[in-house]
Amino acid sequence: MVEQTALAGSFTLSGAAMTVNRMGYGAMQLAGRDGDKLVWGPPRDVEEAIAILREALTYGLNHIDTADFYGPHVTNQIIKKAIFPYPTDLVIVTKVSARRGEDGSWIPAFSREELTAQVHDNLRNLGLDVLDVVNLRSMYSIHEPAEGSMEAPLNVLAELQQKGLIRHIGLSNVTPAQVAEARRIVPIVCVQNHYNLVHRADDALIDDLARDGIAYVPFFPLGGFTPLQSAELSDIAASIGATPMQVALAWLLERSPNILLIPGTSSRKHLRENVQASQLQIPSEVLAKLNSIGQPEKEF
Ligand SMILES: NC(=O)c1ccc[n+]([C@@H]2O[C@H](COP(=O)([O-])OP(=O)(O)OC[C@H]3O[C@@H](n4cnc5c(N)ncnc54)[C@H](OP(=O)(O)O)[C@@H]3O)[C@@H](O)[C@H]2O)c1
Repeated sequence: MVEQTALAGSFTLSGAAMTVNRMGYGAMQLAGRDGDKLVWGPPRDVEEAIAILREALTYGLNHIDTADFYGPHVTNQIIKKAIFPYPTDLVIVTKVSARRGEDGSWIPAFSREELTAQVHDNLRNLGLDVLDVVNLRSMYSIHEPAEGSMEAPLNVLAELQQKGLIRHIGLSNVTPAQVAEARRIVPIVCVQNHYNLVHRADDALIDDLARDGIAYVPFFPLGGFTPLQSAELSDIAASIGATPMQVALAWLLERSPNILLIPGTSSRKHLRENVQASQLQIPSEVLAKLNSIGQPEKEF
């Protein structure tokens, strides 16, 4: 068993009475897979999925990221089955603006009706009366941030917030211009974008958000469906007695104090390794080598 750690310290969401440990858990890997359909259907081992969530809580993890379109519905249903009633300090962050096609595709769904239905799907499947944080995911391009106004869907979420169904609003897959637009409409507590050791397009955005006390939550912190791997990262990890994935997580924690981690895993062994990464100290010369891995001219 892993010893309970400080989980890399804590972060209070801006303007919110919610404090989370910086090491959290991303629940997407709890759904299954059906051929080419990723994040689809039940997991191969439901008991393991339940055990992961229960064990995560024993370490003090109190930030779980999810979406009702994982599975679809499956991930939220497993969360509820495993850990409902929820600890009072647990913050469950979900996201809206997509639905799944029968072929497993991810389809933009951010009309008023679709957003409202997704908020209710999340409430029902998680067994909640109010959602802690809802991230509005931009779907102008499915795989990367692309410009387009967030105003109309944000107004819908703001109305649902006023009705008491949502406590706080965040953003996902967004450009800096979309963050600025959104912040003129509603308070934004977090931004969840693709970022890791080798995918660093958001470096400037992270620093801007840090100055304003807004959390930045990298998705694919370990590389997502194709986990990070390189001889250089492996050598660095070996030199400090850690695994490459632990080094990738510890580097993110060092990168900026507003970074909150939600690594995803379908195994308790990996959960333990990831939690242990919050205690990993990276010497400054090693940090310099890691920083250079992510520079654009480097092949990875
Ligand atoms: N906003 C968005 O658009 C968006 C998009 C994608 C994801 N997300 C959120 O971000 C979370 C994190 O992303 P992710 O789960 O896709 O990717 P990730 O955390 O970068 O990586 C997950 C992959 O790494 C493997 N892994 C995890 N821990 C490991 C370890 N210690 N050693 C070796 N391999 C390890 C997992 O395999 P095992 O299962 O075998 O451990 C899985 O294949 C998701 O769970 C989801 O909540 C959000």
